Amino acid sequence: MTADQEKKQAALEAVKYIKNNMVVGLGTGSTAKHMIEAVGQMVAEGVNLTCVPSSDATEKLAKELGIKIVELHEVDHIDVTIDGADEFDGDFQLIKGGGGALLREKILAWNTKFNIIIADSSKDVKKLGAFKLPVEVIPFATKQIKTYLEAEGLKPVQRMKEGNEYRTDENNNILDIDIFEVDDLQELEIKLLKIPGVVETGLFLDSTSLIIVGKEGGSEIKERKH
Ligand code: 5RP
Repeated sequence: MTADQEKKQAALEAVKYIKNNMVVGLGTGSTAKHMIEAVGQMVAEGVNLTCVPSSDATEKLAKELGIKIVELHEVDHIDVTIDGADEFDGDFQLIKGGGGALLREKILAWNTKFNIIIADSSKDVKKLGAFKLPVEVIPFATKQIKTYLEAEGLKPVQRMKEGNEYRTDENNNILDIDIFEVDDLQELEIKLLKIPGVVETGLFLDSTSLIIVGKEGGSEIKERKH
């Protein structure tokens, strides 16, 4: 199976958790795209859903598929959010934000009763950090934060796009940092969020209830026990 087939298989398994009249959070990325297409199919077949997108790209795709989109403030909770991840470990901890949507994704996750992560098998790691951790920072403070993170040994690299600095949907910058040597991720999260100008990090440490991994012979469903 290719990685894309695994992503699609996980997405099709995940949408089975969506029921009529639910409020659904829609993730961002190539795995989430398969899920959004499946949600579009459900809506076309008559399932009534209200969806909150985690990025401008997701909103555009969902609208094209005829999915009813609302803003977060228009709902009082989200029943289920389905999103991808760049890495996950055995403790249901994630790195997200490879696609740059970490801020709204984390806000959706925080406001959701049941968070499902869908992934291909390459995202399953023993220790987080081979993938660089995205940290969203405001442009005003980017240089100072980068200097600080360099001194902390986190090797920040400012994300670029077509020769220009990358800007998120919220018009912020991203610094991708190397956390492979870091053992205490809770401590790292607190340390990063204390820096003025850091808006959010791509560490999702305790929001995920279920991880579905697309695999040859059927999806693997990992349920969080604690
Ligand atoms: C976007 C994300 C994505 O979920 C993550 O980057 C995984 O992307 P893909 O499904 O394309 O591998 O966090 O901000």
